[in-house]
Amino acid sequence: MPFYHKLGEIPRVKHTTFYKIDGKELYREELVSSKGFSGIYSNLYHHHLPSATREIKKIVIEGSKTLDDAPAVYTHCDTDKDPRGGDYIHSREKLLENSQCSISTAKVTQNSEIFYRNARAAELIFVHHGSGVLKSSYGANPFGSGDQIVIPKGTIYSMEFEDFDNNKLLIVESSSAFEIPKHFRNEYGQLNEDAPYCERDFRPPEFMEPINESGEFKLIVKMDAQYSEHILPNHPFDVVGWDGYLYPFIFNIKDYHPKVGRIHLPPPVHLLYTTNAFVLCNFVPRPFDFHEAAIPAPYFHNNVDSDEVLYYLDGDFMSRKGVSAGSLTWHPGGIPHGPQPGRTEASVGVERTDEYAFMIDTFEPLKPTKKVQECQDDNYPKSWL
Ligand SMILES: [Fe+2]
Repeated sequence: MPFYHKLGEIPRVKHTTFYKIDGKELYREELVSSKGFSGIYSNLYHHHLPSATREIKKIVIEGSKTLDDAPAVYTHCDTDKDPRGGDYIHSREKLLENSQCSISTAKVTQNSEIFYRNARAAELIFVHHGSGVLKSSYGANPFGSGDQIVIPKGTIYSMEFEDFDNNKLLIVESSSAFEIPKHFRNEYGQLNEDAPYCERDFRPPEFMEPINESGEFKLIVKMDAQYSEHILPNHPFDVVGWDGYLYPFIFNIKDYHPKVGRIHLPPPVHLLYTTNAFVLCNFVPRPFDFHEAAIPAPYFHNNVDSDEVLYYLDGDFMSRKGVSAGSLTWHPGGIPHGPQPGRTEASVGVERTDEYAFMIDTFEPLKPTKKVQECQDDNYPKSWL
């Protein structure tokens, strides 16, 4: 929701008659609203009733079980180990979760005709590798590597990939919206000059011709941990126009403008988005701190109020030994972490970093799934010895 956007045909005045070309049948207006009619919203105009559903049945999508009694320990796992594969829905492997956030990765190995709706969570899909197009009721969002796609709660969408050589996604689900931090905006809502991005860095949906087709369209709906299959009598992308602030949008990590200090600056300078329950940060190539005696590697830190998850994308990660692209580390809150032995000394005098990494700091403790145990590096908790 970086700014107001409008696509296609909409009536001059909302909540008034808007007839199809025959002059008799009405388009169906749908208000997609947040925060109980007080948050951002969009008005969509459909060929058909957006609630029309032929059949609903509960289904099970196999996934790794969350381990409620697993100890929270220093964790490093290789998220590329033994992926399940499948389409953009069935390839997801959940790794960590709490009541308001879940973190999964996915190696997408096929396309499918199935539509998806996460009714209870907003999603941020980080495209580590791969390209294609995300289609939704709002239009088309072509995506490529490095793209961070935000999909509002309740959006019906599909993802089509161009090929299947190496598609890798990191998916963060949030019970509250991904928001641009308030201090990045001025009193009029425009992004400030010192924000790490500006409006032109965001890609809203592109216009897509409405699909006015009837038949049987399969939609998987996720409601918290439960899934159901809905058979729709009309194609869900039947929207002739819409306007508003609520829609899927893309920001690429390479467009993030980093901030640099004389001495080491803490993670909030890398902030991307906030939610009610966690924050997201982008670490991108940048010159290091410029004090003549600066230590670019971070000092040891003990975040007593948040768990810290880092996903490593590319480059050399100065504070970590043994991690590589596709690694994920989880440092639970309340116990300290920092650079592995030798990394602090090695960072002194280094002038810049070429790292790309993505951080999720949750305010509520996370729990691992069985998948984390299966792909973790058992020696990592001892890596500071
Ligand atoms: Fe940290």
